[in-house]
Amino acid sequence: MGVNWLKQAVSQSEQLHPYIPGKPIAQMLREQGFSESEIAKQQASTVKLASNENPYGAPPKALEAIKQIAGEICRYPDGDCFELKQALAAKHKIQTEQLLIGNGSNEVLELVIRSFSGVGDEVIYSQRGFIVYALATIAAGAKGIAVPEHDGFGHDLNAMLAAVTDITKVICIANPNNPTGSLLSTTELQSFLNKLPSHIVVILDEAYYEYVMGEVDDSIHALKHDGLIVSRTFSKAYGLAGCRVGYVVANPDLLAVVNRFREPFNVNSLAQAAALAALHDEVWVLDKVAQCKQERSRLEAALQGLGLLAAHSFANFVLLRHEAATTLAQNLEQQGVIVRPLAPYGMADILRVSVGSEAENDAFLAALHKVLS
Ligand SMILES: Cc1ncc(COP(=O)(O)O)c(C=O)c1O
Repeated sequence: MGVNWLKQAVSQSEQLHPYIPGKPIAQMLREQGFSESEIAKQQASTVKLASNENPYGAPPKALEAIKQIAGEICRYPDGDCFELKQALAAKHKIQTEQLLIGNGSNEVLELVIRSFSGVGDEVIYSQRGFIVYALATIAAGAKGIAVPEHDGFGHDLNAMLAAVTDITKVICIANPNNPTGSLLSTTELQSFLNKLPSHIVVILDEAYYEYVMGEVDDSIHALKHDGLIVSRTFSKAYGLAGCRVGYVVANPDLLAVVNRFREPFNVNSLAQAAALAALHDEVWVLDKVAQCKQERSRLEAALQGLGLLAAHSFANFVLLRHEAATTLAQNLEQQGVIVRPLAPYGMADILRVSVGSEAENDAFLAALHKVLS
């Protein structure tokens, strides 16, 4: 008889369920019975609006930088990300010691939770917060406290404060939040932080910051709390999701602890070069953010017209409410459009649809009209 590996693993493994990402186009086509040669042909006519990626591609300077450095990949990367840290420090007007860079912000979020919580500790997050917080908490052996939102969409900061106990070690807040698209103001966040003990680590996950730049203050300078960790990523507005680069800004003493848990070469050399170049292509980045926001308004107006808009989103996706949302998602897939059902977040009647390019959004709206008629 084979070994039951789940029983051999650490006890918390039983509660861990792998993260389900947005479905890749090739996987959807395989599920629909296409052969490998047909998949190659079909891919171009399929639209993936399930992972909040940048539909306009990667910044041209980043693509060029990857080509330039490709010959160097026989070497290990710079384990300290020296040049990228210098550029980020200059951009944010901070010291390099205030930065820790990861294999996507996801890695850093996990490292932070693992560094500051374990068996016997509690980590607080919103019930409909980014699912990785719950998974990282379980993996760390800590107990997750999922706090319901005040209206099903926005973080309830008062309820989160009420959930704080002597064993609370970390609080995670995404702003804007994925998957609900809600936004907290700088004032709301600072008044929350003022009421917290200073030893509690607060992860403010700003993966979608570029989409609200100008609408909220820059948290890196505006918010004050000893344990505050602001997290940003190159995966969304910067168009580098496949490279995996994200970073956090925090107190150097706190990051020195997190750094002990980091593997030595966690950010590969192509990713470092691409991220550095992307920082020099900010005109491109901001132009695409503006286009995305225009398209988001167009999609939200169309959904509103159909009586399907669930709530306004501040990020690069929109929220559609339909009583048979999961079936609707399957029907959209049959039309070649992949969206994200939010049933795993306890929102069985909501679909999250990433804002695509103009042509992709047209394809989505045409498919939606077709499956609803
Ligand atoms: C709120 C939030 N945080 C973090 C991430 C992780 O992003 P990455 O690991 O690509 O930086 C995502 C990705 O969708 C997200 O939505």
